[in-house]
Amino acid sequence: MRHLPDTMPATAPVPVVNQDPADYRKALSCFATGVTVVTTRWQDSDWGMTCNSFSSVSLEPRLVLWSIRKAASSLEAFTQSGGFTVNVLSQPQQALARQFATGDMAARFANVPVQRQAGDRLRLSESLAWFDCSLHQLVDAGDHHIVIGQVQDFGWRDAAALGFWRSQFGQFQVAP
Ligand SMILES: Cc1cc2nc3c(=O)[nH]c(=O)nc-3n(C[C@H](O)[C@H](O)[C@H](O)COP(=O)(O)O)c2cc1C
Repeated sequence: MRHLPDTMPATAPVPVVNQDPADYRKALSCFATGVTVVTTRWQDSDWGMTCNSFSSVSLEPRLVLWSIRKAASSLEAFTQSGGFTVNVLSQPQQALARQFATGDMAARFANVPVQRQAGDRLRLSESLAWFDCSLHQLVDAGDHHIVIGQVQDFGWRDAAALGFWRSQFGQFQVAP
């Protein structure tokens, strides 16, 4: 049996053959994902941003993760507020993916149907699924922080998911 070391060795520089950052981003974009809008409530304001780095981590306990760019204007809100809600976008919500990626928070939430949850965070009403989380752990990772949340409540409905692949929005199709 192979045992993993208790501590990871210090990161050693790894030679990378292809140094082209644009090409690296293109390669990453080949991984198809869904799209979410993550929301939080901090300093009496609502915060929201589009995010496709969402992933499930653990079923027991229920942990999920996403990563936030350290340069994001909402970094403090998401790392200091103690929790967040992940809204998985449905296909009719495609416009929201762009709306929540730029502009100030008032513009992002303008005319968006929402419900305020018990913990005060907003949930986007027409989402396909939602996960309301308390902040479990923050992991420093290069130019991002990995945000790990413990799911406190969740819901879902049967509708078409918004997909994101090679920098384009689309829909998932069931293979013939
Ligand atoms: C489809 C899509 C997915 C995104 N995923 C992430 C993500 O996982 N993490 C992140 O930090 N930013 C992500 N972004 C970018 C953020 O939404 C965007 O940088 C942020 O809302 C900009 O806010 P700011 O200009 O106030 O910093 C994504 C944008 C789009 C359009």
